[in-house]
Amino acid sequence: MAIKHFLQFSDFTLDEFEYVIERAHVIKRKFKNYEPYHPLEDRTLVMVFEKNSTRTRLSFEAGMHQLGGAAIYLNTRDSQLGRGEPVEDAAQVISRMCDIIMIRTFGQEIIDRFAAHSRVPVINGLTNEHHPCQVLADIFTYTEHRGAIAGKTVAWVGDANNMLYSWLQAAQVFGFHVNVSTPKGYDIDPALVAPSFGGYTVFDDPSDACAGAHLVTTDVWTSMGFEEENAARLKAFNGWIVDMEKMRRAQPDALFMHCLPAHRGEEVAADVIDGPQSVVWDEAENRLHVQKALLEYLVLGRVA
Ligand code: CP
Ligand code: NVA
Repeated sequence: MAIKHFLQFSDFTLDEFEYVIERAHVIKRKFKNYEPYHPLEDRTLVMVFEKNSTRTRLSFEAGMHQLGGAAIYLNTRDSQLGRGEPVEDAAQVISRMCDIIMIRTFGQEIIDRFAAHSRVPVINGLTNEHHPCQVLADIFTYTEHRGAIAGKTVAWVGDANNMLYSWLQAAQVFGFHVNVSTPKGYDIDPALVAPSFGGYTVFDDPSDACAGAHLVTTDVWTSMGFEEENAARLKAFNGWIVDMEKMRRAQPDALFMHCLPAHRGEEVAADVIDGPQSVVWDEAENRLHVQKALLEYLVLGRVA
């Protein structure tokens, strides 16, 4: 049987997401009640990082521990990956010694090649093109605060980056609409959006993108791997800040989300990210709960 991976959001059906989200609620409740739950006893997660991380490492490592298993951290700097060992060889070796793998890397084709040579499930912990675990946590967070996201409008203000492409894939699966505003020259790459998907609208003015939105979200102007473009981006993105003026165009009870880390005064104003509509700390915490449900599902299949 083909191995189930989570390499981009579109890898799961709505039915699978609904199952994983339900399990995340159960697993979160157990965690909050200090109830031990060890379905992954004796199982090992290997985490491969080719880029920096705080939340992703922490949530996967703590999550695996809390599920009764172990997590091993590898990074490019001190593993053979940094000395040019082919990704196909690394996948063969790593996947013979563990039950599941999470990778944070650069191009999506790297994780695709890795997964094609892995004997165990592979999870995308962020690539240049996708960040599906974060968007899963964000949808879980939206649901906790406001109920179902189907039929709602999400406003994306900023770069056409990995977070946006995962939001667009999620919109197709969950049936919500995305209003997108990116500066000229930083537009959506149509090759990264399913041609059949019409559930988004592009706005020149970021403020118009926020009009009527139930959720306003953004991310850094310069993602990891694009640092040499930082000076040009600082100029081009001027005006693409989520500030109170833009939040006032959204629904009165609109939420604000940001995957973090954030730059106050660039993509988001301090009074928005630190204000009452912001749920950024819940988003960060929920990485832990949804990824525990994801690990359980990918290693054990459906248990309930
Ligand atoms: N949001 C997120 O993935 O954070 P890290 O880069 O700290 O893992
Ligand atoms: N778009 C950002 C997300 C960081 C969690 C990046 O790729 O750097």
